[in-house]
Amino acid sequence: KTVYLLNGPNLNLLGKRQPEIYGHETLADVERDCMALAQGLGLALEAFQSNHEGAIIDTIHAAREKAAGIVINPGAFTHTSIAILDALNAFEGPVIEVHISNVHKREAFRHHSYVSLRAEGVIAGLGTEGYKAAVRRLAMLLA
Ligand code: DQA
Repeated sequence: KTVYLLNGPNLNLLGKRQPEIYGHETLADVERDCMALAQGLGLALEAFQSNHEGAIIDTIHAAREKAAGIVINPGAFTHTSIAILDALNAFEGPVIEVHISNVHKREAFRHHSYVSLRAEGVIAGLGTEGYKAAVRRLAMLLA
């Protein structure tokens, strides 16, 4: 089985952007670690990042045919995008939402997530470890 790891806007700058909030690991580090972890769990993992809402939606549509589950950090689109929620609602497999930072400890506008209405699980504030926890959970849900 294949799972998708999707990252939204500004996450291409991981490791360089506000490291006091998001840490020093780069997105390439995260993707490499998650791929290795997934492989050990018997899953293939494909990673995507885009700063564009429509490109993220297109990738979720592709997942309908190609992926059994999705790990997604929608970045700021978490708090704004009904369109990403709708796309995820058109996907049948399990979805785990990840936030590197504890969004509940931050500005009020980060406390609401459209994607949480769809996600089987939500991880926030575990740093980049959260992605690995999400991959492990997907493997359990898909077993
Ligand atoms: C984030 C939290 C969002 O509020 C923010 O816009 C991001 C990253 C996180 O991983 O903590 O870009 O999703």
